[in-house]
Amino acid sequence: MLDQFGRKIDYLRVSITDRCNLRCRYCMPDVASCERHEDILRYEEILRVCRAAVQLGITRFKVTGGEPLVRRGCAAFIERLKAEPGVEQVTMTTNGLLLDQELDALLAAGLDAVNISLDTLDAAKFTAITGWPQPAPEKLRALLRRCCESGLRTKVNCVLLEENREDTAALAALAAEMPVDVRFIELMPIGFGGSMTRVDPDEVLAGLKELWPDLRPTDEKRGNGPAHYYASAALMGRIGFIDAVSHRFCADCNRVRLTSTGQLKPCLCFDSTLDLRALLRGGCTEEELTEALRAAIWQKPRAHRFETIQEITERRTMSQIGG
Ligand code: GTP
Ligand code: 5AD
Ligand code: SF4
Repeated sequence: MLDQFGRKIDYLRVSITDRCNLRCRYCMPDVASCERHEDILRYEEILRVCRAAVQLGITRFKVTGGEPLVRRGCAAFIERLKAEPGVEQVTMTTNGLLLDQELDALLAAGLDAVNISLDTLDAAKFTAITGWPQPAPEKLRALLRRCCESGLRTKVNCVLLEENREDTAALAALAAEMPVDVRFIELMPIGFGGSMTRVDPDEVLAGLKELWPDLRPTDEKRGNGPAHYYASAALMGRIGFIDAVSHRFCADCNRVRLTSTGQLKPCLCFDSTLDLRALLRGGCTEEELTEALRAAIWQKPRAHRFETIQEITERRTMSQIGG
């Protein structure tokens, strides 16, 4: 459907849990209090929301967390979502730590693409950023290769931080090693990201152009999100940037979010939500659910206000929102 500004909304990000096995500094650095089990939507309830979304023309779904694979039954849920009439694409964003053991089930479920968060290939820095004590980057590199070999469309997400600004070339070089897209994400002032130093993505691009002088913008479609991409003859994958603060992309926004507690969130920047859990548990009909969703999507704000801290009303962390 179109929102009040004429934007076509066809992509829903679905957070299935706020829990995570990592403690990324910009996302959930402490054992922050997690939602109570009974407050989290059951898979059956999430599927009802997705069915209502399909009625409104939403055909692409991103499964997120926290870390989606820490919730039991994730692959079976994806299989059910994929089987819903009208659902065209189901993709996932994960930190990859549990993906090796789940990959076959996810492929069998029909997962269309995966984004794997990887902020550095340096094991010590990985531990400093994520709190994960074991050396993970080499395992994740092998996992990326396995994902590519399986035919799954695979991308890397790296959030730009002071700690990893020297690591961007090594991460980008993954796209020379295998057909993986490597995306650099500008830190957003949401949750703990608000108190950390942002790295300018244009500086990173300039550095990468020194290594691959033929890097050129490409308008190929590589997913449903806001990234813009660059190609080089020396790279199998693309280099992407998600720079919400320095290059606002709200005019092309195509998405809304469902949090794990069933709040429909029209824009990342603002705390205004529609309590779909109350509707679902209050015994609403399919029509009532669809109409509530329609009204919330219509009201989607025109743009974020990340540049004016006082106007950011969202107080949840990224793990509570789903990224
Ligand atoms: P694909 O393009 O299909 O791979 O999806 P995606 O890039 O939307 O998915 P992913 O979950 O990997 O998100 C990457 C980053 O983009 C995360 O940091 C998200 O928070 C951010 N992002 C996605 N949508 C929006 C948006 O509407 N606004 C802002 N500001 N950031 C977004
Ligand atoms: N700013 C930008 N990206 C973030 N992510 C988590 N927190 C932030 C933030 N404050 C990223 C994760 C993951 C994606 C879903 O969102 O690293 O790749
Ligand atoms: Fe977990 Fe992702 Fe948040 Fe890191 S960014 S703590 S991997 S949910």
